[in-house]
Amino acid sequence: MTKPTAKLEIGGQSPEHEFDILKGSVGPDVINIASLYKDTGMFTYDPGFTSTASCESKITYIDGDEGILLHRGYPIEQLAEHGDFLEACYLLLYGELPTKAQKEDFDYRVTHHTMVHEQMTRFFTGFRRDAHPMAVMCGVVGAMSAFYHDSTDISDPHQRMVASLRMIAKMPTIAAMAYKYHVGQPFVYPKNELSYAANFLHMCFAVPCEDYKVNPVLARAMERIFILHADHEQNASTSTVRLAGSSGANPFACIAAGIACLWGPAHGGANEAALNMLSEIGSVDRIPEFIDRAKDKNDPFRLMGFGHRVYKNYDPRAKIMQKTCHEVLGELGIKDDPQLDIAMELERIALTDEYFIEKKLYPNIDFYSGITLKALGFPTTMFTVLFALARTVGWIAQWKEMIEDPKQKIGRPRQLYTGATHRDYVPIAKR
Ligand code: SDX
Repeated sequence: MTKPTAKLEIGGQSPEHEFDILKGSVGPDVINIASLYKDTGMFTYDPGFTSTASCESKITYIDGDEGILLHRGYPIEQLAEHGDFLEACYLLLYGELPTKAQKEDFDYRVTHHTMVHEQMTRFFTGFRRDAHPMAVMCGVVGAMSAFYHDSTDISDPHQRMVASLRMIAKMPTIAAMAYKYHVGQPFVYPKNELSYAANFLHMCFAVPCEDYKVNPVLARAMERIFILHADHEQNASTSTVRLAGSSGANPFACIAAGIACLWGPAHGGANEAALNMLSEIGSVDRIPEFIDRAKDKNDPFRLMGFGHRVYKNYDPRAKIMQKTCHEVLGELGIKDDPQLDIAMELERIALTDEYFIEKKLYPNIDFYSGITLKALGFPTTMFTVLFALARTVGWIAQWKEMIEDPKQKIGRPRQLYTGATHRDYVPIAKR
C-alpha cells in the first residue's frame, strides 16, 4: 500500500511538493513538513500553534470535540474515581498501571524523598511575606539545581529517574513551605506515614501547638484534584518544559520554566482569576453585565474558567471538579456558598447564550477548582501553586519522553520577518 502523502503546489508552479502523512493511534493525522524549508525555501506560519503538532507522544490524548481525556489510554474519569495520585504518577511516568508491589515500591521511594535540603529554608526568608507564592515557587524550584547535583546529568537514566522522583516528592513540601511562609507560620515537616495528599494538607494546615488530624474526605478530594491536573498534552507550560529541556537544561530548571509559564491567567493562573472574577461579580443579578462584557470585542474581559484551545465540548475534568466541589462543601457543612451560586448561575446562562454556544466555550477545569480550594482553606494566591504541584508529574513525564526520544533536537522555531530591511548607521549628529 502506498504511503499517504500531501501534495503542495506553490503559486501554480510545478513541481508539486509531496510530504508524508503520519498516522497516530488515534486523533488527527499529521503532515510531516520537516523538509518544507529545504524543498521550498518557505516556512509554515502558525502563531499560537493552533494547527501544529510539536512532537510525537504516548502519554496523554485529548479529543476536544468529544470531551475525552486519556492518560496512557485510561479515561480521566476512571483514574480519578479509582486510583490515587501516585498511581496516576506511576502510569504517566512508566506507561502502565503499577502492580501492587510496584505501587508499594513507588510510594516508598517518593515518600522517602519528600524532605528538602534544610539549607533551602533560607531562600524563603529572602522573600517578602506578601510575595505571591508562585514567585516563591519559581525561585525555590529553580534553586533545586543548586542542591541536587547528583541528579542533573540528563544523559544518565538513573539520574533522570532520581530527579523525577525528587520533583514529584518535594513539590508538596516546597508548596506547603511557600504557603506557611506566606501566612507567617512555621514550616511543618512531611510525615512518612501519611498519603501524598494527606501529607500535603498536614504540612499546610498543621501547627506546632496541637495535633492536626487530616479529614479523609478532604484528603481524597485533594488526591482527585491532583489527578485532574496531572497532565494535558502539549499545553503552554508543558511545551515550555519541553523547549527548555531540548537545550539540555537540567530538569529542575525546566520545571521552574514550566511554573513560570503556568502562572499566566490564560493558563494555570485562571483558577485564581476565576475566583477573583466571581468575587467581582458579587451577586447573581450582576451576571448579565459580565456576560455582556465577555462578549464585547472592545472589552478585554473574558470569563475566566471558560473556553479552551482544545476542548470545544465540556472539559471532562470540570465535571469531576464540580462533583468534588459539592462533596467538599458538603463535608464542610458549607450550605450556601454565594460564589458557588454565582458560578452555577453563570454556567447555566453562558451555556444557553448564543455567543458561547457558537464559539463552543464551556467551563474548563479552572472554573470550579477555585471554589473547592477556597473551601479547603487555601487563599486564592495558592491556587496556581496547587496546579503546579500536580502538573509537575506531567511536566516530568513529558520531559523524560522528549529526552529519551532518539529524534530529539533543540527546539528552534523560525519567523515571518516584517521589520526594517538593511539600512546603514546614521551618526547621532545627522539624525
Ligand atoms: C488551562 O492547554 C491546556 O490544556 C491548558 C489547561 C491544562 O490543563 O494545561 O487545560 C489549563 O489553561 C485551561 C484554560 C484556563 N484559561 C481560562 O479559563 C482563561 C479564559 N479563557 C480564554 O482566555 C481562552 O478560552 C483560552 C486562552 C483558554 C483559549 O484561547 P484560544 O484557544 O486562543 O481561543 P481564542 O482566544 O482564539 O478564543 C476564540 C474566540 C475568541 O473570539 P473571536 O476572536 O473568535 O471573536 O472565543 C472567545 C475569543 O474572544 N473567547 C472568549 C473566552 N475564551 C475565548 N470570550 C469570552 N470569555 C472567554 N473565556
